[in-house]
Amino acid sequence: MPADERTIEEKLNELRELREKACLGGGSGRIEAQHRRGKLTARERLEILLDEGSFEEFDMFVSHRCVDFGLSEQEYLSDGVVTGFGTIDGRLVFVFSQDFTVFGGSLSEMYAAKICKIMDKAMAVGAPIIGINDSGGARIQEGVVSLGGYAEIFKRNIAASGVVPQISVVFGPCAGGAVYSPALTDFIIMSKETSYMFVTGPKVVKTVTNEVVSVEDLGGADVHAVRSGVNHLVAEDEQEGLLMVRKLFSYLPQNNLEDPPARRCDDPADRIEEDLDYLVPVNPNRPYNMKDVIFLITDNHEFLELQAQFAPNIVTGFATFEGRPVGIVANQPNYLAGVLDINAARKAARFVRCCDAFNVPVVTLVDVPGFLPGTAQEYGGIILHGAKLLFAYGEATVPKVTVILRKAYGGAYDVMGSKHLRGDINYAWPTAEIAVMGPRGAVEVLHARELEGMLDETQRKAFIDEKENAYRQRFASPYVAARYGYLDDVITPHNTRFRIIKALRMLATKKDVNPAKKHANIPL
Ligand code: HXC
Repeated sequence: MPADERTIEEKLNELRELREKACLGGGSGRIEAQHRRGKLTARERLEILLDEGSFEEFDMFVSHRCVDFGLSEQEYLSDGVVTGFGTIDGRLVFVFSQDFTVFGGSLSEMYAAKICKIMDKAMAVGAPIIGINDSGGARIQEGVVSLGGYAEIFKRNIAASGVVPQISVVFGPCAGGAVYSPALTDFIIMSKETSYMFVTGPKVVKTVTNEVVSVEDLGGADVHAVRSGVNHLVAEDEQEGLLMVRKLFSYLPQNNLEDPPARRCDDPADRIEEDLDYLVPVNPNRPYNMKDVIFLITDNHEFLELQAQFAPNIVTGFATFEGRPVGIVANQPNYLAGVLDINAARKAARFVRCCDAFNVPVVTLVDVPGFLPGTAQEYGGIILHGAKLLFAYGEATVPKVTVILRKAYGGAYDVMGSKHLRGDINYAWPTAEIAVMGPRGAVEVLHARELEGMLDETQRKAFIDEKENAYRQRFASPYVAARYGYLDDVITPHNTRFRIIKALRMLATKKDVNPAKKHANIPL
């Protein structure tokens, strides 16, 4: 074989040209089409996501091996997905970014192999995985090889779950079985207008059920934010979505063996907030906004809320105290009186487990009238879904600090980070009401027989009022629970921030382990 007689300059030129070709993906025409749709290219997205100049690309020269359907004539370097590693705020992450300009971002054998390579590397070094999805699904020309590729990715998603954080961004189509890779990850972020996810698209829906539905109404960002709860954060556009990923990542550790990163904090730990003393209305049936409490107590009044529009009767999200990340779970009296229902239980349970997996302490703010009654909830399995939340709190070994602001009734008292379910520090405000049920319900049960015989309405009302008052005096306070040591202290609302911080400081070195087992059998 004759020696390659080209000069080094010629070889460097060849490398540069190949790189330029790879960077063009499916070509400038398709890049323009992508831009016209308000979408960025795979590489442009990575430029925003990662620290400037930090991206190290793998497998730029990979191309598919398919010869069917004329594909041997169509080869694109990188084969439709850009993979590699880089940093966010100086911290290592592995990334893949699907390139819609190449065969609609569809997944081939080699494309899957590229994603699997970075997932394996991420697991080997203990670094998070961030995937940007924009794909027409399995590459139809490759058939079953593509399906196998998906399953290889799913397998790695599952192995990585609870080991390294996994964040999915959906900036385009994500349909069919392809939805299950994002679904297996910890967080999903979608952008308005350009993202959609569904297992079966509108055409199949029409054929099978005769339902006519648009792509947006079936699987757009709003649908998954409000109705299904699949989506954690909705961005106005891709730029905002990528910055949201950076923000979200700032609350997460590299892996399950590390703590989330602490940041500099100038907000005084002992900041007093007098407004908190007056925040809970005197009338126990009046609502208030739990997010006002959250913003008053967290560092710099910052809170990254997740799944804000799904089950708004419970609030979940990340904040910091003294610069250290925590997960906050809080009932929201402003919506359905903060009742626990199926969706609230599912939402909070998954969040608590995510915090526990990644060593993020959980701060719980309680104002809950109980579980939502009714056939819809019972038929929907509130027994099992409520048990998920109970399970999540009961198995979590991270530091857990709970503050009861007002109502903590019935089973919901137990569930919401109570001492009995391994709450570490449990406080209540003087406005707390902790009992088996609310005064009205209790009187109706305890005095049912007497009430039955009372026909005079005025007499009946006076009787109920008197008994309700007596019940309220006896039980609707924090002091019965405090007497049993179920609360560690009754605290002044204006000092809540400092009390939580001192509890978290004390718990920073907490060690707690669950008994060895293959895995628990959480009621899924
Ligand atoms: C190969 C594909 C492709 C695919 C799109 N393309 N999807 N090529 N395999 N799955 C190609 C198109 O032929 C086209 O090529 C280019 O990508 C852009 O696609 P358009 O249709 O022009 O774009 P748009 O109008 O935006 O529509 C996007 C789309 C549509 C909604 C994604 O392309 C579509 O419906 N694709 C098929 C989706 C699908 O059924 N996938 C298989 C699902 S099953 P040219 O050369 O013309 O520009 C699945 C199973 C996964 O994914 C199982 C995992 C367990």
